[in-house]
Amino acid sequence: MATKTLIGPFTQLLPMSGLPVKGALKDDVIAVIDQGGILISEGQILTIAPFKDLLPEADEVHQLDEEVVGTPGFVDAHTHICFGGSRARDYALRNSGKTYLEIAKSGGGIWDTVVKTREATAANLSQGVIMRANEHLQLGVTTLEVKSGYGLSVEEELKMLRAIKTANAKTVVDLIPTCLAAHIPPKDQPGSPEQYLQQLSETLLPQIKAEKLSNRIDAFVEESAFSQKEIEPYFKTASAMRFDITVHADQFSAGGSAIAVKYNAISADHLEASSSKEIERLAQSSTIATALPGASLGLGCGFTPARKLLDAGAALAIASDHNPGSAPMGNLLAQASILGAFQKLSNAEVLAGITFRAAAALGLKDRGTLAKGNKADIIAFPTADYREITYHQGQLQPCAVWKNGIKVL
Ligand code: NIG
Ligand code: FE
Repeated sequence: MATKTLIGPFTQLLPMSGLPVKGALKDDVIAVIDQGGILISEGQILTIAPFKDLLPEADEVHQLDEEVVGTPGFVDAHTHICFGGSRARDYALRNSGKTYLEIAKSGGGIWDTVVKTREATAANLSQGVIMRANEHLQLGVTTLEVKSGYGLSVEEELKMLRAIKTANAKTVVDLIPTCLAAHIPPKDQPGSPEQYLQQLSETLLPQIKAEKLSNRIDAFVEESAFSQKEIEPYFKTASAMRFDITVHADQFSAGGSAIAVKYNAISADHLEASSSKEIERLAQSSTIATALPGASLGLGCGFTPARKLLDAGAALAIASDHNPGSAPMGNLLAQASILGAFQKLSNAEVLAGITFRAAAALGLKDRGTLAKGNKADIIAFPTADYREITYHQGQLQPCAVWKNGIKVL
């Protein structure tokens, strides 16, 4: 018989289970188990209950002696942590008043990272991903989506996705790879954006399937990237091949979210430029709206209308967008807490956005809540009051993290 391990007591335990994926959440929906315990076996959760009730069933006890609050491990559903180089120069130029276009023209922007990423070896890229994933782990992230999108050719995109796959085997964080070959039209490609996308459909997507590198396709739908018309045939092919679709949508101008909903995307991310029409459309759909406050902080622009999305009935996930250009910070809890302060989100909405709603944005049903059968991905914060987690805006960091039931921090 497999060993049953009891972890606890947690002064407060927040399973975050049984809550709806869509819509506003008041704080009184948060179920708190005082002096809670988690009984686990073979990396999975068996039971959540008061610690003392579980003691008779346990073969071994991992006793927590300090006051701690326990939550599900955080899920960061949108990052670009596979890259070469740095864009500190872009950041300084932006803050000195240069526009995005001026910076791109002077050798900065996404293309600068493409050049540096192409120069890096797959091994270098992997090492960077592992290092950054482990930094996220220290901050409580146990599942992390990682996009390609700085290769922008069939071979370079494959290099990135293979590097992410290698990194996944070398970090305890679960990395969920996404193909973002449709990030921007590559500057060095002689043909049109449509021809580039056609090449991806014919050559890259089948190879990704063959090597099992990813089951998710992302695209940046924006005036400076791909138009709605250009992207539609690519999404048609991707959906016929059973890829999950996610979209960089409505970041600077509205439009991407309509395409996301039309193609039944699993998530539409960014949405800083969404107006009431886009908000209503998302709310009526099953597409998760993912806010990326790290991009607002990095670019110095407004936040995603998270309050309005929730009040309209949309599902709101919150992710870091960690990338070298628009979102270099990469601290999910700090960013989600700050979004909460600016958008008037309850603790329930912030925590849901980085746990089970973020898991839903990745199509993962086995995590994001502390519920029977789920992965034993657990964080403990050194406090007796769960409200302290967002109150400290990221400065209160986990004192312990378990991944698949194994204590990794
Ligand atoms: O999510 N919006 C487009 N893509 C990224 C930025 C990537 C970059 O600037 O390197 C984003 O913000
Ligand atoms: Fe992004």
